[in-house]
Amino acid sequence: MKLFFILLFHSCIPTITSCNGSSNSNLNMSYEKKIILDLLANYKLVGLNGRPVINDSTATIVELGLGLVQIDLDEKNRVLTTSMWVKHKWQDEYLRWSPEDYGGLVKIRINPKFVWKPDIMLYNTAAVKIDEREALMVVTHTGKVQWLPHQIFKSSCSVDVRSFPFDEQHCQLWFGSWTYFNSEIDARLFKKAKGIDLRAFQTDYKESCPWEIANTTAKKLFFPSQKDAFGVLTFSLSLKRKFVFTSYVLTLPCVFLAALSLLVFLLPPDRPDRTSLAMSTFSSFLVLLLILVEAAPPTASNIPLLGKLSITRYKDLQHTIHTIHSWQKIIDTLNCV
Ligand SMILES: *[C@@H]1O[C@H](CO)[C@@H](O)[C@H](O)[C@H]1NC(C)=O
Ligand SMILES: *[C@@H]1O[C@H](CO)[C@@H](O)[C@H](O)[C@H]1NC(C)=O
Ligand SMILES: *[C@@H]1O[C@H](CO)[C@@H](O)[C@H](O)[C@H]1NC(C)=O
Ligand SMILES: *[C@@H]1O[C@H](CO)[C@@H](O)[C@H](O)[C@H]1NC(C)=O
Repeated sequence: MKLFFILLFHSCIPTITSCNGSSNSNLNMSYEKKIILDLLANYKLVGLNGRPVINDSTATIVELGLGLVQIDLDEKNRVLTTSMWVKHKWQDEYLRWSPEDYGGLVKIRINPKFVWKPDIMLYNTAAVKIDEREALMVVTHTGKVQWLPHQIFKSSCSVDVRSFPFDEQHCQLWFGSWTYFNSEIDARLFKKAKGIDLRAFQTDYKESCPWEIANTTAKKLFFPSQKDAFGVLTFSLSLKRKFVFTSYVLTLPCVFLAALSLLVFLLPPDRPDRTSLAMSTFSSFLVLLLILVEAAPPTASNIPLLGKLSITRYKDLQHTIHTIHSWQKIIDTLNCV
């Protein structure tokens, strides 16, 4: 009985080995799976680290493009949140095959976890963690890799509110390789792209966005500007405030109150309600100023001109009331004489 079990045990081992799927020759596989297994076997040998070039002096050219989906500008904290598709395109010399050996298949999709990716990052980020939706990479038989992950960036953007609510803000997004020099990873703008691609934004989100995108441009800068420099792609966004809301809440009352303060002068000097009208105009200006403080972002350098206007209007008012009182005194004394 014992012998039988030992025999059974021994005879089982080769059976298990042969049917645990280790050899894929007796398995019917699609060409796509075959290509992927063979390419990943390459990567098992060369590892994930190091640029995917055979000759070290070859630069890896990474073409980069941004497609905007949604934006949000937090003026108080000076953070621009953008939801974007980041288009990457580069050449990987370890991801090549001849289509004849694989039934003419020229394009496959693979998981980005298993192959090299450029360390292109947002330089002026306001958050360390970047939300990313994983996307498969599209690889063609010549080694061309295309990868379009969807990411949500939080970038810093200095906000100038001098002409609030008719202001225009200029924000920049700086992308480049975090560690490689430009001679190693050469980040370039996607061919034919002039700035950020706005098609998705315009079809879906343009109407409801409180900002209008006036202009977007892109250019490449070098830091420091010597031979072995870091190349940085700078994408700029010009945002124009859609002032429908703010013009109703702030601008119109400000104009009306300014007109009302002039009304004070039409009242005869001996009317006692003159002062109370002036005082209530003043308190209305104060309330308006408080709303303005709520609505406008606090900045160290600039005060919104609207705020300046309400303050100076009040000062004018006070000043003129003062002079009228002095004139009145003079007239009174003249009358007495
Ligand atoms: C199959 O079994 C053999 C022998 O036990 C083992 O070396 C091999 O790693 C296994 N393969 C897989 C894919 O599990
Ligand atoms: C694999 O496919 C061939 C032809 O399509 C077929 O003859 C063979 O039985 C298949 N083998 C397995 C293990 O499915
Ligand atoms: C690498 O490329 C450079 C320039 O193209 C060439 O001079 C050099 O011989 C190449 N090195 C190897 C090992 O092929
Ligand atoms: C966008 O900005 C660039 C560079 O500042 C400028 O040359 C171009 O005329 C601007 N385009 C529009 C439509 O304002």
